[in-house]
Amino acid sequence: MLHVRTRSVDATRQVAAALEPLLRPSDVILLSGDLGAGKTAFVQGLATALGVREPVTSPTFNLASSYEGRLRLHHLDVYRLDNPAEVLDLDLPELLEDEAVMCIEWGEVVVPELPRDFLRIRIQLGHLEDIDDARVLEIESTGPAWMSREQELSLAWAKWITDQTEDS
Ligand SMILES: Nc1ncnc2c1ncn2[C@@H]1O[C@H](COP(=O)(O)OP(=O)(O)OP(=O)(O)O)[C@@H](O)[C@H]1O
Ligand SMILES: [Mg+2]
Repeated sequence: MLHVRTRSVDATRQVAAALEPLLRPSDVILLSGDLGAGKTAFVQGLATALGVREPVTSPTFNLASSYEGRLRLHHLDVYRLDNPAEVLDLDLPELLEDEAVMCIEWGEVVVPELPRDFLRIRIQLGHLEDIDDARVLEIESTGPAWMSREQELSLAWAKWITDQTEDS
């Protein structure tokens, strides 16, 4: 488990951008955290670093958006998924076969549909500091495809990693 701390939306975008060189086709990133935590901001940083030119907005109403970059990016937001059957409407297996990078906001409900390897990012308001814009990103690698990159992740995020790093 890694803990990364940011103090601005730009810093969260930079953290995401620092992850970009490590991304491989078919990577899945699950983003959770309260409304307004910064999940979409993270995806925006990643998209820019991937070379996506279009602005990335929240796909809340259409559930999924796709962008072209160094790797294709599928951005899903399943917050509004009222019942599990709607997961089928997402054509998730098809999107997963696409050798793209997939970012899923509020993705916990679709975990059973995902491959065993994904990066889980939980964004929390940084209550330790008296700054409204502080966030703590708790990052957990699930499965060998991400576990094998943990050292690279630590290096990429060195300047944002907090002293909670070694707690797992
Ligand atoms: N350190 C920070 N990291 C990210 N966003 C921040 C930070 N500080 C302030 N913000 C602000 O918090 C908001 C984050 O909005 P964003 O849409 O990314 O949240 P979200 O987690 O995607 O919410 P939702 O669940 O509604 O999709 C933005 O207004 C952003 O400017
Ligand atoms: Mg969002």
